[in-house]
Amino acid sequence: MIQLRNATIEDIPILKYWDNQQHVIDCDPDDDWNWEYEIPRTPIWREQLIAELDGRPIGFVQIINPEQEESHYWGTISEGYRAIDIWIGSSTDLGKGYGTEIMQQSLARCFSVPAVNAVLIDPLASNVRAIKFYERIGFTYLEDRKFGDDDCKVYSFSRESWESKTKNKWL
Ligand SMILES: CC(C)(COP(=O)(O)OP(=O)(O)OC[C@H]1O[C@@H](n2cnc3c(N)ncnc32)[C@H](O)[C@@H]1OP(=O)(O)O)[C@@H](O)C(=O)NCCC(=O)NCCS
Repeated sequence: MIQLRNATIEDIPILKYWDNQQHVIDCDPDDDWNWEYEIPRTPIWREQLIAELDGRPIGFVQIINPEQEESHYWGTISEGYRAIDIWIGSSTDLGKGYGTEIMQQSLARCFSVPAVNAVLIDPLASNVRAIKFYERIGFTYLEDRKFGDDDCKVYSFSRESWESKTKNKWL
């Protein structure tokens, strides 16, 4: 069973280990997540979560409110959004359905807040496998967008499609 829980300072070694895995580097080559500084603080606009499979950490999820996020990574954006970053830590855990389950739980978490209308993700345009993963889950392409030097593709999951998918027991 997969469960999401808040990341703690005890998770920093495994987060750093995952940072050095090639598939994690490939999805986010330039970013320094600065775990020692970030994990102990808990700003209201963010959740940093560890996904556990039967108690074993297998992945990381960050959910932010992009309107409130301090660096304004998403630029000027209205309320009603969440944005998600996700990765599976170890290559041996890839492609086993864990990411799909983690994303479904993350979307449920986002849409449990009534004010949230849509969830955004911004894979690198080169990350074709992640893009396929998001499209299969039901994200819709919005636009190509440059974040800093990174060419990304922005996708969205609307509350409307979430409600129709959960109603049809698709998720
Ligand atoms: C994207 C990711 C979270 C999906 O989780 P997952 O557990 O591997 O995915 P699932 O098993 O639920 O679904 C499999 C699909 O994931 C996608 N996928 C993306 N990257 C993959 C990888 N490196 N290895 C295997 N599958 C991958 C593929 O579309 C795959 O479908 P396929 O087998 O038909 O090719 C995970 O692959 C991952 O962490 N990738 C590297 C980091 C990353 O790209 N994160 C997203 C940044 S925007």
